[in-house]
Amino acid sequence: MNWNQVEFEASYGLFSQIPPCETIEIAFSGRSNVGKSSLINKIFNRKSLARVSSMPGKTTTINFFRLEKVRFADLPGYGYAKVSRSEKDRWAGLISNYLHSDREIVLVFQLVDMRHPPTKDDLQMIDYLIDSETPFVIALTKADKLSKKQREERLAALQQEIPCAEQITMVVTSAETGEGMDELRSIIEELAAE
Ligand code: GTP
Ligand code: MG
Repeated sequence: MNWNQVEFEASYGLFSQIPPCETIEIAFSGRSNVGKSSLINKIFNRKSLARVSSMPGKTTTINFFRLEKVRFADLPGYGYAKVSRSEKDRWAGLISNYLHSDREIVLVFQLVDMRHPPTKDDLQMIDYLIDSETPFVIALTKADKLSKKQREERLAALQQEIPCAEQITMVVTSAETGEGMDELRSIIEELAAE
């Protein structure tokens, strides 16, 4: 795939605004600030395709990007406390309506901050993906912030912290160094070739 040919398509603040699905979709899910938008930029080698912020709660809409036959969805983050109840409900509605829809979601990249145990919301999301039989891969983010020893400790701990860990593909990534990007790209290419 010609990664830098990706194009921004559209943003939607309400699920009802999203036009019907006509192609396969790959979504990026995870808590606020985990690094979804950064990872998307790194995969596509583009500095500001998706907007990044050090303040959680940056992405407040579902943003779609398109490369060849694949549509990519940057989802709003969950679990951000400092936002009004109504805004939280809108984000949660967007995420859950999107994931529960009959859209052709061929894969969810579920992001988990590698430095910390998964949050309650992360575990709820992973349980949902397992129960709904939605194919997913866990991208462990911000690996550059860990020493070699810390990384090994966290990888071992995650095997206990994440249900069915041994059956889940986990990719160690860093949007800073580009670690893991080739692996994510080859996962995407395989789906695009089907
Ligand atoms: P929301 O849109 O709020 O849901 O957040 P997001 O998941 O899209 O996170 P975003 O990509 O905006 O990144 C949040 C912060 O983490 C920014 O300050 C990024 O620079 C930083 N960040 C993201 N990925 C990495 C990484 O791999 N390494 C390091 N060191 N920082 C990262
Ligand atoms: Mg974002």
